[in-house]
Amino acid sequence: MEPSALKGYRGGLLHFLPGGRAEHFTDGLLVVDTVSGRVVDAGKADYLLPLYPAADITVYPNVLIMPGMVDCHIHYPQVDVIASYGEQLLQWLNQYTFPTEAGFADDTVAEQTAGFFIDELLKNGTTTAAVFGSVHKTAADAFFRASHARNTRMIMGKSMMDRNTPDNLSESTADSLSATHQLIERWHHYGRQLYAATLRFVVTSTEQQMRDIRSLMNEYPDLYMQTHLAENLHEVELVHKLFPQRRHYLDVFDYHGLLGPRSIFGHCIHLSDDERRRMAETESRIAFCPTSNLFLGSGLFRLEAESGRIRTGIATDVGAGTSFSLLRTLHEAYKVCQLNGSNLSPQRAFYMATLGGAETLSLDDRIGNFSTGKEADFVIFDLQATPLMARRQARCRTLDETLFALMMLGDDRAVKETWIMGEKRYSR
Ligand code: GUN
Ligand code: ZN
Repeated sequence: MEPSALKGYRGGLLHFLPGGRAEHFTDGLLVVDTVSGRVVDAGKADYLLPLYPAADITVYPNVLIMPGMVDCHIHYPQVDVIASYGEQLLQWLNQYTFPTEAGFADDTVAEQTAGFFIDELLKNGTTTAAVFGSVHKTAADAFFRASHARNTRMIMGKSMMDRNTPDNLSESTADSLSATHQLIERWHHYGRQLYAATLRFVVTSTEQQMRDIRSLMNEYPDLYMQTHLAENLHEVELVHKLFPQRRHYLDVFDYHGLLGPRSIFGHCIHLSDDERRRMAETESRIAFCPTSNLFLGSGLFRLEAESGRIRTGIATDVGAGTSFSLLRTLHEAYKVCQLNGSNLSPQRAFYMATLGGAETLSLDDRIGNFSTGKEADFVIFDLQATPLMARRQARCRTLDETLFALMMLGDDRAVKETWIMGEKRYSR
């Protein structure tokens, strides 16, 4: 290895190990090989500096260097839907979301929004996300081009919806399958891009579409499937009416063989014990979307009921979610837990936003912490980003206090720099 290819980033450093144990160094060093873009080492600066004498070191005061954050559920064509007033899920979809997504038939809209969206993620310290597209194949191409150009690791898919949609968003079952198939061939494992068969929700898909998705998952065993599940009580009632032969909402997916470790279910608020048991048994994944659930009045997700049994990541769900910031999202997650009579500890919160998210997306062999060989996606958090944060941090004595103040007071202002595969992609 070229010695000059090594770069070191020195400052407070935190990451998590499998199982959730924190490794924290008040004076830490992250060593990155800028040729491969991978982590070489991470630990105590005093110990590591003599081991890498040729490394070019940058010192950061008053920061926490952490792995890039992982957003397990977000919609790229909903950037302009954020902050749409007054409705709950089904009306919100009809009144705001579907009309906006229809605009993504226009390539210029798709191209411009995709770039803005990924830059906004980077500005907020999010380096990987599971992303829903609009129904349009060309808009998915635009997203992947934008992500590939920035070398970000993204999971994305065009929404598949072959019934119960407005005319300007409808597609035939056959066209939906063929467009998805072409996108998988083009983008799944192209650079850092990965594909998710994106069944918007079962209200807008026929049973044939579900069979088609199962066949795609057979053809591409590491393909993802992402969808929405049990978000809103009116939606749950509608699903019972549309699928009277199924035992419950989850059974619609189960019947078609769509549960498993690569299936990511957004929301999961209104689930029965039987559905939870079945999700755990099949190792299906949950994306917890607190700002969205509060904004749409959907309900309070029970993190404690799922914890330990079902892998759960944190997610913004923009544009029902009200912020791109996973710090603000953790803040709202904490409040949702409070209302459910439990505490979301700061370490668990940051684990969920990093390695826990990577595990939820089955990407923990590549991202999520600073183990040697991982892809060097990381964030430099400025603990004193605002006068209030500086003032509050001055009183913090422990890692937990520092992290809790960061998640309760922080937002994009706390993200000083975001690095992708060892290259700086955002600087405040
Ligand atoms: N259910 C089906 N589509 C959507 C969507 O776009 N956002 C949310 N929050 N729920 C959905
Ligand atoms: Zn969503």
